Formats: sequence, structure tokens, C-alpha cells
Amino acid sequence: MATTNPVAQHYGSVGIADRVLAAVRAAHGSDAAVTVDALAPLDQFHARGPLATQELVALLQPRAGERLLDIGSGIGGPARWIASKFGVHVTGIDLTPEFCDAAEALNQATGLADRVRIIRGSALALPVPDAAFDAAYSQNVIMNIADKQAFYREAYRALRPGGRLALSNVCAGTAGEPYFPVPWASTRETSFLATPDEMRADLVAAGFDIVEFQDTTDAIVEVQRRNRERLLRGEMPPVAADIILGARAREMQVNSMRSTEEGRTRMVEALVRKPV
Ligand SMILES: C[S@@+](CC[C@H](N)C(=O)[O-])C[C@H]1O[C@@H](n2cnc3c(N)ncnc32)[C@H](O)[C@@H]1O
Repeated sequence: MATTNPVAQHYGSVGIADRVLAAVRAAHGSDAAVTVDALAPLDQFHARGPLATQELVALLQPRAGERLLDIGSGIGGPARWIASKFGVHVTGIDLTPEFCDAAEALNQATGLADRVRIIRGSALALPVPDAAFDAAYSQNVIMNIADKQAFYREAYRALRPGGRLALSNVCAGTAGEPYFPVPWASTRETSFLATPDEMRADLVAAGFDIVEFQDTTDAIVEVQRRNRERLLRGEMPPVAADIILGARAREMQVNSMRSTEEGRTRMVEALVRKPV
């Protein structure tokens, strides 16, 4: 499944699921059970891993039996974790073929293939019917997407009236562009950051009502600075970014953290609703 898409080329590599499962065995022993909790640091591919997902679900509040859409589902870590913890069905859409393959292999390994469905496709033309989902979420995806209003319009179309969308977005700061490479882009050619004000305006233009809109940067930046120093000293355990990005990961993570510390990027969490 070769791709010419530069975003997918940035992310993709062969053998991702095998590397994740090897990391679980290295951390928990050769006969370790492959559970969503054992996988969580290793298959949730965004800054602050499972902690960030917990914050997102605190906004989204999934209810048992709901149909959820994960836009830019990566290797499926958040989708499996949420499906398992909340008794929901999750459909994950992702552009990167190798990520979809890894997500399907890890769904099988965790016994969650009947609750988490993965479809390869674009967030800008979601391969799902209108109004098919009760709720949707997207974590650290939209920084790869230039046409943000198209992204939000597609999410809006996929939600039923009253449906919720939770977002965790890297936004533009006021101190210049991020240092490249970052985990989401090797160069500026595939990085598209909106300011928090632009993000809010794009959501409103797509038709959403804003329920919560939080710039969390100041709350996380000090912990992140300490983590960057630990990373540079080689004291951080491996996370999803290390497994997925390999030798490139450390420089990318450090650049991302420095960019936040210096006000080049802002972290925003939001909950919006499609009006009834
Ligand atoms: C940093 S990863 C986050 C993955 C996942 N949300 C997570 O938190 O584990 C960004 C993801 O967005 C996906 N992506 C980027 N642009 C996309 C697009 N236009 N349509 C669908 N997926 C996209 C990438 O393939 C990648 O899996």
C-alpha cells in the first residue's frame, strides 16, 4: 500500500505493530498480556500520551453504546483505550497505510477488533455516512491539515444533531514558527498551525457551538520542560513516538517541547457541539 502523500510518508514505516508488541514484552515480560493499559504509553501517539487522552474523554464524556469517530486515529491506541474503558464502538479514520495496518494488528492482539473499526481515508473526505456518529474526537491531527474549515465541516457532517466533537490541537503561538523537525512534520511543508483564535473561528464557521475552549499551555509547560531535560539525559522510558519515529524521535520531541516553552506553539483542548 504505497502512498505518495507527504504526510503519510512522514509517519509511515514497516513493522510498527511488531515493534509495539516487542516494547510491551520488554516492559512487562515475555508472556505479558496485551491489554490497553499495557499498550497505553506505547500506542497513543501524541504529547503526554494517556494523560492527554484522559483529559479529552473528561471533555467528551462517552456513554456506553455510543458510536464514536476518531479522526486521524494513528495506530489506534486512543480508540482501543476509549472503546475498552467506556463500552463504546469507535471507528478510526487515518491517512497513513502503515498506521491502519498496525491499528488492525493491535485491535486483534487486544481482542478489540469487534469494537474498533479502522478505515484508511482522509479527514477531508471522511468515508462515513452523514450523521452516523454520536460523538467524535481528534487528537494532534489538524496540524497536518491546511484546510481546517474543510476538516471541521466533515466532522460536522459525520455527527448526528447534538453530537459532540472533542479536540486536542497544537496551535500557533506568537513567537514564530516551531523548530523543525517536530513529531508531526519533518519540515514546514506539512505543518499548518492555526492560532487559538483562528481555531475557534473555524469551528464556529463550520456550524459548531463552542462548549469548552481551554488553552492548556501554561498548565503543562513546566512539567514539559522537566520532561525535556529528562529526555536529553536519556531518563525517559520509550513512548509511542520513539517506537513509531525511531531514531528521529528524540530530536523531534525536544523541538516540540522547546517550541511550546518558547511560545511558538500553544496547546488547546476544546469541546464543541453540533446544534440540534
Ligand atoms: C500525531 S499522529 C496522532 C495519531 C492519533 N490521533 C493519536 O493520538 O494516537 C497524527 C495522525 O494524523 C493522521 N493524519 C494526518 N493528516 C490526515 C488526514 N488528512 N486525514 C486522516 N488522517 C490524517 C496521520 O496519519 C497520523 O496518524
